[in-house]
Amino acid sequence: MKNVAVVGATGAVGIVMRQVLKERNFPLKKISFFSSERSHGKKIQFKGESFRAQVLNESSFDKGDIEIALFSIPAQASKLFAPIAAKNGAIVIDNSSAFRMDPEVPLVVPEVNAHAVSRHKGIIANPNCSTIEVVQVIKPLHDAARIKRMVVTTFQSVSGVSLQAMDELRQETRAVLEDEEYQRQIFPHQIAFNLIPQIPQENAFGANLYTTEEMKLVDETRKILEDDSLRITATNVRVPVLRGHSASVNIETEKKLTVEETKQLLSETPGIVVQDDPARQIYPMPAFATDKDETFVGRIREDESVPCGLNLWIVSDNLRKGAATNAIQIAELLL
Ligand SMILES: NC(=O)c1ccc[n+]([C@@H]2O[C@H](COP(=O)([O-])OP(=O)(O)OC[C@H]3O[C@@H](n4cnc5c(N)ncnc54)[C@H](OP(=O)(O)O)[C@@H]3O)[C@@H](O)[C@H]2O)c1
Repeated sequence: MKNVAVVGATGAVGIVMRQVLKERNFPLKKISFFSSERSHGKKIQFKGESFRAQVLNESSFDKGDIEIALFSIPAQASKLFAPIAAKNGAIVIDNSSAFRMDPEVPLVVPEVNAHAVSRHKGIIANPNCSTIEVVQVIKPLHDAARIKRMVVTTFQSVSGVSLQAMDELRQETRAVLEDEEYQRQIFPHQIAFNLIPQIPQENAFGANLYTTEEMKLVDETRKILEDDSLRITATNVRVPVLRGHSASVNIETEKKLTVEETKQLLSETPGIVVQDDPARQIYPMPAFATDKDETFVGRIREDESVPCGLNLWIVSDNLRKGAATNAIQIAELLL
């Protein structure tokens, strides 16, 4: 039984974090919920009990009794508060990008590199939501046939940004349909009935013209697979989907993998569901992956332009496996 804090409990990830803690019946001695001042005192229902959101501050962990802190707050706030929580005895599982590439911090997808958890020094990082679904699928293929090069294009839902971004998509969709003006708060361009090839929405582009999100996919995949030789290139696109990130992945391997061998390997991999019967129009889609913990893969085809290549289509719920479920699976490894 653990004393757990959900930090960022009122956000898109925090809400699902509470739901997943309950569903998985995580052994709780005590639970507390933190947010920013904006949600101070907000009522939070959990397992039939009513709690109040507490404002996170530098004294929040002073008592030293919180054992696991599930952080889903902006990276800047994680940078400040996660080391304070860890110093006061908590093990922090952080969903932000603040510590992912820190060599002292394990970056973990339990089905892929659970062994890394034991190296933690108080903080464990949850990977980016697109990285999680992609590494889950490519790990067994990399083990079997060694991936030399990978080209990834993601189609990321608005819940990957925040609750507010989900509201913006709903409101802007209504406004476009009604031919009304809409004042955007989140995205740099219209997201309703549109695609935006830029993630995140602010300060996105680096000197190499890739976005920070695209470079996360490259760097985090190499770190999780412990293979810096893997050649990866990525393009990320924001799509007008509420929930569920999709990825088109092309891999070139050293050894040839047939479609049947690939399906067999993936169907034996925990956490993955092969949904691949194109003749019956069966393939993964975000609307059907929503609120599910598995990562779905389909449209598995040989890339006929190279001797050993494959194309795959991957979808998972960014708020579940891409964030809350993965973090709680990490917490379960700590029990
Ligand atoms: N959304 C995803 O699919 C996803 C996936 C993986 C990782 N992540 C990461 O998870 C984190 C949260 O994302 P989200 O989508 O849940 O965002 P969100 O909907 O905007 O929620 C943010 C949460 O953090 C709280 N917060 C904001 N600033 C804070 C501060 N200074 N101190 C304490 N709490 C603060 C907010 O509290 P208030 O209610 O008071 O504002 C809210 O509970 C981000 O780092 C994000 O990159 C998100």
